[in-house]
Amino acid sequence: MKTKKISFDYVEYDYSELKKSDQELIDEARKACEKAYAPYSQFNVGVALRMENNEIIRGNNQENCAYPSGLCAERVALFWASANYPNLKVNAMAITVKTNLFAVESPLSPCGSCRQVMTEYEQKQGKHIRILLADDNKRVWEIEKATDLLPFFFHENKLQK
Ligand code: THU
Repeated sequence: MKTKKISFDYVEYDYSELKKSDQELIDEARKACEKAYAPYSQFNVGVALRMENNEIIRGNNQENCAYPSGLCAERVALFWASANYPNLKVNAMAITVKTNLFAVESPLSPCGSCRQVMTEYEQKQGKHIRILLADDNKRVWEIEKATDLLPFFFHENKLQK
């Protein structure tokens, strides 16, 4: 028997400590929150992607009265980016939340399905996607790559095509 361990480092910043381009990415994600369609949860999630050509793509959660038909902000943003710019790499992804129901005291970390999608695009593009998670208190967590968030992700090579 052998116990194995996986760990990863992440960096906590105050928003003011971030470089301008990362502050901008978080600001854009916050703007995306404003346009979320989340009438059922009132939990607006906003995402901004920094593409390799420096363009910023925004996405937000889209809910539906048939609840499972809705989609998280992370996947809305990544699917839109892939649908429109299939060959453009994503350098960084900022994720924010806005709800009037309570204060967001710690950064939102993406759900499991979104992590799987994030890792797939990271593998596909052969380049890390840096993740920035921000709360209401100017706290930001920086994670080097999407796979850090899902070390045992399902890899397409398991399909044995
Ligand atoms: N949501 C996201 O958009 N991203 C996540 O990572 C977690 C949850 C959305 C889905 C739903 O519209 C609302 O937040 C409440 O779960």
